[in-house]
Amino acid sequence: MVDRGKDVVMVEVAAERGKQLSSRVSEEGAGWTCAQTGDFVRLKPSGQGFSWLNLGTLWRSRNEVLAGLFGDPSGKIRARWVRAQEARGIDPEFRIKPPVGKEFSFLLLGDTGEGDSSQYAVVPGLLKVGAGTSFAVIASDVIYPTGSGNEYGDKFFRPYQDYDAPIYAIPGNHDWYDGLGGFMRVFCDAPALQPKPGLGARGLLWSRPERIDEARLAEARKLRGRPSQQAAGQAAQPGSYWVIESESLLVVGVDTGIRNVIDKGQTEWLRRVSLDPRPKILVTGKPIYTGNVYKPSPLEGGGTIDDIVRDPAHRYVAAIGGDVHNYQRYPVKVGDRVIQYVVSGGGGAFMHATHTIGRVDVSAVAEDDFRCYPLRGDSLSFYSQLYARRLRMKWLYLTPSEAARITSEHVGNQPVRTLAGPVRITRRMRWAARLLGAWPWPLRLPVDKVFHRYLSELSDWDTPPFFKQFLHLSVTPGELTLRCFAATGCRAQELEPPLEDEVRISLG
Ligand SMILES: [Fe+2]
Repeated sequence: MVDRGKDVVMVEVAAERGKQLSSRVSEEGAGWTCAQTGDFVRLKPSGQGFSWLNLGTLWRSRNEVLAGLFGDPSGKIRARWVRAQEARGIDPEFRIKPPVGKEFSFLLLGDTGEGDSSQYAVVPGLLKVGAGTSFAVIASDVIYPTGSGNEYGDKFFRPYQDYDAPIYAIPGNHDWYDGLGGFMRVFCDAPALQPKPGLGARGLLWSRPERIDEARLAEARKLRGRPSQQAAGQAAQPGSYWVIESESLLVVGVDTGIRNVIDKGQTEWLRRVSLDPRPKILVTGKPIYTGNVYKPSPLEGGGTIDDIVRDPAHRYVAAIGGDVHNYQRYPVKVGDRVIQYVVSGGGGAFMHATHTIGRVDVSAVAEDDFRCYPLRGDSLSFYSQLYARRLRMKWLYLTPSEAARITSEHVGNQPVRTLAGPVRITRRMRWAARLLGAWPWPLRLPVDKVFHRYLSELSDWDTPPFFKQFLHLSVTPGELTLRCFAATGCRAQELEPPLEDEVRISLG
């Protein structure tokens, strides 16, 4: 039995120490001077991962394109899953009630499932900081590239086999490329839906759930087969959206499908759940704010998800979204309250740039109140190194200090960490930064989703730093403390995970 009080003290100590060791303080904290690669390499499976460039992978991912061309059927398919789950007798309010008291903690990680170094690099720090947490939540993209139920072994059960508590999840667009078949089978223990003949071009071409090799899945499940890893008192997760209830806080998870629309049935449920008088956080597959842009998920029938989040009667204190593979936090003033809007998608997949985020001003958030990880300079230096190597264009390379100086000049703030010595910016460096997207420019190398989807395996970025992150959230009746810990892939940061951000949120 874990001593809860001791855990809290341990996390407080780790957080204090982690602040001094972060990328905000030193290049070493960012993982740039990695004396030794982390122990995560011993956890990794021996087989090769998948390749986005493979024609088979692109064909399996075709639902994204079809949903864009002909409309996203996720809402209709989700309604079928809900009806099937209701017929199996699940709680129609999709409640999950973990055995926690008024004080507990949990982990949240987004966009995990690539099954490669960048996913496994997160594991040692997560186990260390997460010891004693009551559960973990995965927000978005549990399994790349297509959510297949046959790939949960190396991308879910194996990496988290030593995490000693239940894991709940909401799906991302990639989980939907499989019609949610793998996700529903694993998290909800749901049998496959009866196939429906498709009509029209979309219906004919639409990729349906892969047939699951049940023996293989049963073998993989054994890796997380301990009673402490199962949801107590209930067979499994009720559906692809849910609410985790505790006395002090509700964690409301929504399913944004492929194209980021909340269907009618889910909207009605969300409105009902939101009327509960307890404080809440929203967990979503698409962040409400990202890249200094406001883009809340539309609700079928009108309005947006943020209308629900902002309503003071609903008492949302934070909205956390995956999908974008980095960390960003926007404290937005709403009336006399501040709601923390967070992107937390750096839990495993290849890093998306932060250096493309200009001076933050969205919804009157001040640049100095905005936080991100990796720091813009580290993000620019990372991509400059990657492209310099792959394109054999050495002139593209910017050191972390040069990149930090350039991005801070552009954003108009002081570099977050003290730069190593005087840094002179040349015309060559500015051209490199421009080509890498540090400010708007028509000719730009991909550094975000396009890079991730089509080019990431062109890079042999199998060595630290990875710039991955996860959240630790601790809850008391009066306060929620959100901490962003980094995973660089270096041994030093596995032993003492850096703390990149911390915010205390009143639940009063
Ligand atoms: Fe993702």
